[in-house]
Amino acid sequence: MKFLLDTANIEQIKKYTEYLPISGITSNPSIMKKEGKIDFYSHMCEIRRIIGMEQSFHIQVTSLDVGGMLKDAEQILSRVDDQVYIKVPVTMDGLKVIKKLKKEHIHVTATAIYTSMQGLLALEAGADYLAPYFNRMENQNISPDEVIGDFAEMIDRYHYNCNILAASFKNAGQVIRAFAAGAQTATMGPEILEEALAMPSIQKAVMDFDADWKSIHGEKTAAQL
Ligand code: E4P
Repeated sequence: MKFLLDTANIEQIKKYTEYLPISGITSNPSIMKKEGKIDFYSHMCEIRRIIGMEQSFHIQVTSLDVGGMLKDAEQILSRVDDQVYIKVPVTMDGLKVIKKLKKEHIHVTATAIYTSMQGLLALEAGADYLAPYFNRMENQNISPDEVIGDFAEMIDRYHYNCNILAASFKNAGQVIRAFAAGAQTATMGPEILEEALAMPSIQKAVMDFDADWKSIHGEKTAAQL
């Protein structure tokens, strides 16, 4: 089970990769938009410098046609590094791109997945990760639990070398459901992790322990006894 951060914000990446067990970073053009008109490649190189080569880094192509997506991939791989997972939306053109990139042994994350059929085609095309869009599916009355379950079953049954990278979350409950349905990996905005740990009951438990300790030992901590 792995947690990835769905952000391109340098400060957030620095903070949360230091505090939390984060295994990688994902972004897309809408996430990049939040950073304003930055220098795309130097920004991506800075993210890689922070997370190191051990973590997975998923960067999306921005072109819409096959030739453009392949050129985007080539530039990303040469100007960031060749271990980046190229995120390709699962469209007709996207599937052609996935097949071509996999022939060259390039890491691929198939993204913008709303349906089982899209994911199964990307699986057979050779994608290393399938990124089903959990919240967006729910918005369309598609069951993300069933779609993720289909992927997990087929990966297992036919021994595909592929992981499910569930994405598009609006709350921690959705993340837990994605893992329960069979996703090995989930990417989420830092606010979801922050909120999950900001529950008042957690803080109250900590303050109660603190008060009980201090009622006996005053301001001395365990290390100071
Ligand atoms: C992954 O990077 C996906 O593109 C992302 O999680 C989509 O999230 P959204 O549905 O909040 O835009």
